[in-house]
Amino acid sequence: MSAVLKQAPQLAPMKAADLDAVLAIEQAVYTHPWTRGNFADSLRAGYQCCTWRLGGELVGYFVLLCAAGEAHLLNLSIAEGRQRRGHGAALLHEAMRVARESGARNIFLEVRPSNLAGKALYERFGFRKIALRRGYYPAQGGREDALVLSSAL
Ligand SMILES: CC(C)(COP(=O)(O)OP(=O)(O)OC[C@H]1O[C@@H](n2cnc3c(N)ncnc32)[C@H](O)[C@@H]1OP(=O)(O)O)[C@@H](O)C(=O)NCCC(=O)NCCS
Repeated sequence: MSAVLKQAPQLAPMKAADLDAVLAIEQAVYTHPWTRGNFADSLRAGYQCCTWRLGGELVGYFVLLCAAGEAHLLNLSIAEGRQRRGHGAALLHEAMRVARESGARNIFLEVRPSNLAGKALYERFGFRKIALRRGYYPAQGGREDALVLSSAL
């Protein structure tokens, strides 16, 4: 096994210099991706934006807003070619740890009902449906509802 394969992924604060690589993943994994401006605004606003790197390679990232004892997971994504290898679960574990350490006692997020991978990941971590936001997401030829999921931290 090479030295690179033995390395564990590293969590680091997202920087403006990461945005080209972040956008490349974002545009590959979503039908309606965030824009560069969405990420830049999140960085400027002081949200907890983190990258997940294996060696020099960007494997994933998350964007988390923590305020008033609540955490809102706004984005969590794994590069297409790196999915189904445990990175999503490991990164969600890190996001929940960061949220807990920031003082949040609950975490919530929105997910498309059609996002089977996302729903399965969050269910595996004990997230429960708390609400439905009608027409929350843009979708092909219309809008799609969002499931609002939550977990205690
Ligand atoms: C959702 C996502 C983050 C999962 O990342 P991943 O690295 O593939 O996930 P893992 O390999 O850690 O898998 C963890 C669990 O997620 C679920 N899961 C992941 N991919 C799945 C798929 N294609 N179908 C069904 N379940 C899936 C499974 O429960 C899996 O556990 P298992 O391997 O024991 O069955 C990834 O698919 C992704 O980035 N998708 C695009 C962005 C997105 O939808 N993010 C969530 C938006 S709310």
